[in-house]
Amino acid sequence: MYRKELYAFEGDKPIPVVIRNYQIEDFPRLIQIQQECFPPPFPSELWWNEMQLKNHVTLFPEGALCVEVDGKLAGSMTSLLVDFDPNHPDHSWEVITDNGYIRNHKQSGNTLYVVDISVRPKYRKLGLGKWLMFSMYDVVVHKGLTRLLGGGRMPGYHKVAKELSPEQYLDAVVSGTMKDPVITFLLRCGRTPVKVVPNYLDDEESRNNGVLLEWKNPFIWNEFKK
Ligand SMILES: CC(C)(COP(=O)(O)OP(=O)(O)OC[C@H]1O[C@@H](n2cnc3c(N)ncnc32)[C@H](O)[C@@H]1OP(=O)(O)O)[C@@H](O)C(=O)NCCC(=O)NCCS
Repeated sequence: MYRKELYAFEGDKPIPVVIRNYQIEDFPRLIQIQQECFPPPFPSELWWNEMQLKNHVTLFPEGALCVEVDGKLAGSMTSLLVDFDPNHPDHSWEVITDNGYIRNHKQSGNTLYVVDISVRPKYRKLGLGKWLMFSMYDVVVHKGLTRLLGGGRMPGYHKVAKELSPEQYLDAVVSGTMKDPVITFLLRCGRTPVKVVPNYLDDEESRNNGVLLEWKNPFIWNEFKK
């Protein structure tokens, strides 16, 4: 099981943080965090339910991480293992995560796939999301996986959807002329874009698009030259 102790910084003030695997006792708080993190128009059916969380902690407990600040839950991140074929990258969130139930988790899979990351609004911009991401990178390296992969929402896209295609919007975010609350965060965490996937998720703000972004295991970079 995973446990990491560190200090995050609120301005100049260090605050103690623990990253650890989440467990049954954490479920009510985790569901509350989802409600705070995905307010309408995001569909409430996509918030965690107890059955999904139970599957996370039983099928792939190593992929179920949460972050605590002063003993209080501040966020979580969940993943499963899949076999990813870069020659056939398109998929929906619903299919690849089994709608968040992860019953398709494959213990021998080559890719750590992110189901969700969320940090409570009052704990944002403290670096906690980044620490959760780095902790999942630890899991990738520890298990000798090829990559971490996930589809990021692009919630800023609806503001410019009339003028730009999703690909043009992604280019603008990657070139730094625009910022997106999720894609910019993922870039700052060290993820690199693979492609835009249409109909990735039922998400009005992103116009249902997702951006696949990966983090390749730096210890097996030779694999990627093939
Ligand atoms: C996305 C989310 C997890 C970020 O969590 P966070 O703890 O606030 O992020 P961090 O403080 O670790 O930020 C890491 C980096 O991303 C940047 N960043 C974070 N939020 C950002 C935003 N809204 N816009 C632009 N950059 C952002 C930070 O400036 C920081 O950059 P730095 O390390 O170079 O200083 C959080 O905003 C969230 O829970 N959002 C709602 C749920 C969601 O949409 N999840 C993603 C589903 S695909």
